Amino acid sequence: MNKPTLILINLLMYAGIAACGENSTVEKAEETHENTLVRADIEHREEIEEAREHSAEAPTPDLVNGQRQFSKCKVCHTIIKGGRHKVGPNLYGILGKPAATSEGFRYSSALKKAGIIWDKATLDQWIQSPRNTVPGTSMSFIGIRDEKSRRDLLAYVLKESAATD
Ligand code: HEC
Repeated sequence: MNKPTLILINLLMYAGIAACGENSTVEKAEETHENTLVRADIEHREEIEEAREHSAEAPTPDLVNGQRQFSKCKVCHTIIKGGRHKVGPNLYGILGKPAATSEGFRYSSALKKAGIIWDKATLDQWIQSPRNTVPGTSMSFIGIRDEKSRRDLLAYVLKESAATD
C-alpha cells in the first residue's frame, strides 16, 4: 500500500470510530430519556395512587354530626340569613369574606388586624384553635381537635351559611 492510501484508510477508520462514538452517545441519551420517562411514569402512578388513598381517607362529611357539632357554636352564633349577632357575629355568607367585617358587631382589634379571608383552610384552622390562629381574639372557645368533627362541622357551616331559603 502506498502512503496516501494508508492515510486515507486511517482517516476513514478515525471517522468511523468518531461516528461510532457519536452513535453511542445518542443511544445513551435515548436510554436516559427512556429511563426518565419510565421513572416519571412510575412517579405519576404513585401520585395517582396517593390521591386515591387520600380520597378514601376523606369520605363525604357527615352533616348530621356537623349539625351536632354546631351546637357548640350556637350558644354564640346564628347562621341564618339576617340572623342576629349574639356573643359572636352572625355567620351567614362567611365563605370568602374578609374576617371581622359583619356590620353591627364589635370585633376584637386582633381579628380586625388579622387580615384573614375565610376559606375552608382558614376556617378549619380557626375552629381547631381560635386563640392560636388569632392571639387576642375575643372568641373564647377552646377549639375542636378532632379532624373528622371539624370536617363535618365545616361542611354543615358552609352549607347553612350559604343557604338561600
Ligand atoms: C363563647 C362564644 C363563642 C363560641 C362558643 C363560638 N364563637 Fe365564634 N366568635 C365568637 C366571638 C366573640 C367572635 C368574634 C371574635 C373577635 O372579634 O375576635 C367570633 C368569631 C367567629 C368567626 C369569625 C367571624 C367573622 O365575621 O370574621 C367565625 C367564623 C366563628 N366565630 C365561628 C365559630 C364556630 C364555627 C364555632 C363553633 C365551633 C364558634 N365560632 C364558637 C364567639 C364564639
